[in-house]
Amino acid sequence: MKSIPLCQPWFDSVYADRVREQILSTQIGPGPVTAEFASQLASYVGSHYCIVTTSGTVALSVASFTVGLKPGDEILVPAYGVISTINAFASFGLKPKLVDIERQTGCMSPTELKKQITDKTRAVCFVNFSGFTGQNLIEVVRICQERNLPLIEDAACALGHRFGGKSAGTFGDIGTYSFSVPKIITTGQGGALITKSKNYFEKARSFIDQGDSNWRKTNLIRGIGNNFRFNDILASFGLAQLKTIEKRIARKKATYAILQKSLKNKIFQVPSTLPPLHHIVFARKPRALINYLGDHGITAVRQYRTISQHPSYAYLGNRNFPNADFWTKYAVYLPFGLSLTEKEAQKIVEILANSPIALDSIIN
Ligand SMILES: Cc1ncc(COP(=O)(O)O)c(C=O)c1O
Repeated sequence: MKSIPLCQPWFDSVYADRVREQILSTQIGPGPVTAEFASQLASYVGSHYCIVTTSGTVALSVASFTVGLKPGDEILVPAYGVISTINAFASFGLKPKLVDIERQTGCMSPTELKKQITDKTRAVCFVNFSGFTGQNLIEVVRICQERNLPLIEDAACALGHRFGGKSAGTFGDIGTYSFSVPKIITTGQGGALITKSKNYFEKARSFIDQGDSNWRKTNLIRGIGNNFRFNDILASFGLAQLKTIEKRIARKKATYAILQKSLKNKIFQVPSTLPPLHHIVFARKPRALINYLGDHGITAVRQYRTISQHPSYAYLGNRNFPNADFWTKYAVYLPFGLSLTEKEAQKIVEILANSPIALDSIIN
């Protein structure tokens, strides 16, 4: 029996045609298609400037440099979630500090954030967990503005999500996206950074291009940077998906609707017209649930954990993060890729309905 995979992407054959054309054009480096992809992304989310880069992690590192952070500076990050966010900053020499999440949203808690800000804090990174925006993000924006702290919004999983008429990624001073395999638009690897600030845009653009975006004309480098540029092959692939994003979103909505109709408040929800990126349920006996689903041809995993449980960040474990620990212990991630069919979603619902292992609501 072939198992329903956790996450498999879905592509229209038109995308492959577009990539083939791009290769045959011989324009394969960073060029006009990369610029077009960035420009269309900026208009899709309603931001002024966009830079595409090699990954969502790199986009976060570049964002930290762009807002002026230097090695040794403290940045607050959520205590639960993907390792990429904290790694993006720690690998640039910043000092991350953990803030517990809210149990209902999976996102950094504004109340905890206020408690953790000190005169050493230099910036905050809010992660739109699985696409979650919501009132808590508005509150985090307010907290940062009051204290003059730059806010980096890690919207890696939230492209296309909107709250109060604004796109995820546009709430922070800089927002970032990822185009890794599980995302709504994927170029295999890739990322982007958006901002309304021309100054930030120019700083980031130079940084990803050896420290000076003009050096090909002047033969002079005025800053220090790296090569984190994207390329036209991947951009053609991304652009083809962006042009059909509504179709991609419709696929996600169709399968999530089936799960939600049956699981009701037992599946993680986000305040948006889009479903969350992941399909998350909670169980007191997650291992037993995962084994049961596996026996019935459904791949499920425990995806993330409290950051201080990773050996490299154990030094941040001098405080308790009860909500991050709750998610670590009880969250189970069901299949969620764009290849998931409605028939497969129906099967997941039926298998769960007969499961001897009870699901819990997130609030319990
Ligand atoms: C919330 C979040 N931030 C950052 C990243 C990093 O993106 P990438 O894998 O493109 O480096 C991811 C990737 O899954 C993510 O989910």
